[in-house]
Amino acid sequence: MTRVFSGMQPSGDPHLGNLLGAWVNWVAMQDTAECIYCVVDLHAITSPTDHDPSALRRRTVELATGMLAVGVDPERSILFVQSHLSEHAECTWLFNCVAGFGELRKMPQFKEKSEGKGESVSVGLFDYPVLQAADILLYHADEVPVGDDQRHHIELARDIAQRFNHRYGEVFTLPRAVHPPSGARVMDLQDPTVKMSKSASSEKGIVYVLDDPKRIEKKFKSAQTDSATDIRHDREQKPGVSNLLEIFAAATGREIEALAADYDGQGYGTFKAAVAEAVIEMVRPIQQRHTELASDPGEVARLLGVGATRAAEIAVPTLRQAKDAMGLLPPGVA
Ligand code: TYM
Repeated sequence: MTRVFSGMQPSGDPHLGNLLGAWVNWVAMQDTAECIYCVVDLHAITSPTDHDPSALRRRTVELATGMLAVGVDPERSILFVQSHLSEHAECTWLFNCVAGFGELRKMPQFKEKSEGKGESVSVGLFDYPVLQAADILLYHADEVPVGDDQRHHIELARDIAQRFNHRYGEVFTLPRAVHPPSGARVMDLQDPTVKMSKSASSEKGIVYVLDDPKRIEKKFKSAQTDSATDIRHDREQKPGVSNLLEIFAAATGREIEALAADYDGQGYGTFKAAVAEAVIEMVRPIQQRHTELASDPGEVARLLGVGATRAAEIAVPTLRQAKDAMGLLPPGVA
């Protein structure tokens, strides 16, 4: 059976990019694969300036609640918190000795996040993709459902697995990224040339999964488009309209071309209202379920405990195998 692994950082409230780029696939893949999903809290402490310990704790629980609300099924899938298993950090060290300084320095997300920060950039931020490789490879994942921005990180995980296997013998499975047909790169509603992101300067361009219907409507109403009136998909000439079409397609499961044909000529106002409505309908059941789950944090904690135990059943032997392959002496053996 195909094994799937993916993770999300508890570094801000989940938004439409997280939902359409990753979560929709996470939920769908449970029907055909063995899925492991993780709240990657160790990744969320790599930017010291954004790190508020009490907020991190709260967000970790909230994100796990969000994952359950969106449809991660703890009966069928494993859901756990990264720092509950020390194997992730330990495996990162092994991979630190396999990954190259040069390849990490070139990672686009590192370049973006470290720009202008000079000497204050943490080693953790630099090493971030190696920890991500450990997450994926510890579980022998075949597929990793993620948004487009994670492409390079999954390629690095693949390279590390390949290099490790070549040097020390076959231990790791080579993973591949899986992206949704629409929604792999949701752009900011106010500036459709940059991706929707937790670190955006204005809240107006980000639609959160837990935004109430009025707010969602308002954000789509004020979404940036262009001075023309035609509705068609052209990322270069019409980035705003194209982004809305992609969101519309991802939220309804319909083809971009069919939606463009339906709404062309009706004006941007009608079109934006229809996109907002589709998104509101999509998040409505998630929000309802979130409210129910949030009233019982003890149950979320219990499920995360079960998840960590099941995750350890896979990660512990994989790490042992990797250490053996590298010649690290097992305890009690001479
Ligand atoms: P994170 O927490 O930034 O984002 C979680 C997921 O949401 C996707 N995403 C988007 N997709 C489409 N459009 C957007 N605007 C958008 N913004 C975010 C991301 O691609 C991601 O799939 N490094 C990862 C977390 C991670 C991970 C892993 C993922 C750690 N270990 C192992 C997969 C496997 C990250 O920063 O995700």
